[in-house]
Amino acid sequence: MQNDRFLKACRREEVDCTPVWLMRQAGRYLPEYMEIRQKYDFLTMCKTPDLAAEVTLQPVNRLGVDAAILFADILLPLEGMGIELAFAKNEGPVISNPVRTKDDVDKIRILEAEEATPYVLDAIRLIRKELEGRVPLIGFSGAPFTIASYIIEGGGSKDYKNCKSMMWQAPDVWDSLMKKISEVLLKYLKAQIKAGAQAVQMFDSWVGALSPDDYEQYVLPHSKYVLDGLRDEGVPVIHFANNASSMLELVAAAGGDVIGLDWRINLDDAWKRVGYDRGVQGNLDPFTLFAPPSVIEEKVRKILDMAGNRPGHIFNLGHGINKETPVEHAIALVEAVHKYSRR
Ligand code: CP3
Repeated sequence: MQNDRFLKACRREEVDCTPVWLMRQAGRYLPEYMEIRQKYDFLTMCKTPDLAAEVTLQPVNRLGVDAAILFADILLPLEGMGIELAFAKNEGPVISNPVRTKDDVDKIRILEAEEATPYVLDAIRLIRKELEGRVPLIGFSGAPFTIASYIIEGGGSKDYKNCKSMMWQAPDVWDSLMKKISEVLLKYLKAQIKAGAQAVQMFDSWVGALSPDDYEQYVLPHSKYVLDGLRDEGVPVIHFANNASSMLELVAAAGGDVIGLDWRINLDDAWKRVGYDRGVQGNLDPFTLFAPPSVIEEKVRKILDMAGNRPGHIFNLGHGINKETPVEHAIALVEAVHKYSRR
């Protein structure tokens, strides 16, 4: 491995400078991504290993980030479960047969990842070959709550009305759905690691919709099941829960070698609450990248100061990069992190 500072930081070892990558770094803000995207729809890109490999490498080449993240989506495992997934133009994911009843949950299949999503595993093997050890490859999945929210609501949601209704009105149905999802996610992540993913991240993008109390009762045990199941797989596990600064202790209790942080909390405060026996990843507001480079640099320095060169910090945005972000600003961010964190 030519550049292993990301993996070193995941293990809380000393590094030459702070590693940085950006959530959603392979995507529409890159003109070279749009060039391919004009020819193929999103799911076709995910299901064609050559294309997935090509766009995975784009931000590595363009930005000089310290890790690659597999080009795929958290919703790909749904199809194997018998849930119909489409990406509608400008609407995001749409599920035509949402899960609402015990019958719906009973119908969900639990397949091996090799059968349900062979193209993801082929893409991982191809990307590892094409990376030639330049930087490590991160695999990923959604977390049980975030996946459940899509499956129940039938797409994105503002209020999670159907999801919370099931949680509180039919806790047994909720529990069996969460158990089935967790089993699928654990198989999916284990298969990614076996195929060559050198770290994995679990995204709980929408769990901030819950109170800490409901998180603890209805979600934490399921996230913990997945994270515990990855303990002996030999690669670092990053647990990112968005909009969850009110319940960071619970997120950390669910597990993860590294805890992902959004920007709604100062990094020093967050790390203290997570505990110094874990790494942290984050936590620049993604829209900082619309500010002038001098402001970006100032905010980078503040975050680095709060991390204080303590081993175990991976620089990232606090959530995914916006599709209108100027590419030069993303490049300037990566340069600033490396420059100001040089030990
Ligand atoms: O980080 C990366 O570069 C790897 C690729 C990646 C994608 N999705 C590609 C993608 C990753 C890690 C994801 C994760 C993902 N997918 C999450 C969790 C991350 C987060 O932001 O919290 C979620 C919630 C999804 C579900 C999803 N996929 C939505 C809501 C959308 C539509 C959003 C939008 O901006 O249109 C997608 C589509 C999607 N996934 C795109 C990409 C590059 C855009 C597809 C396109 O080209 O039109």
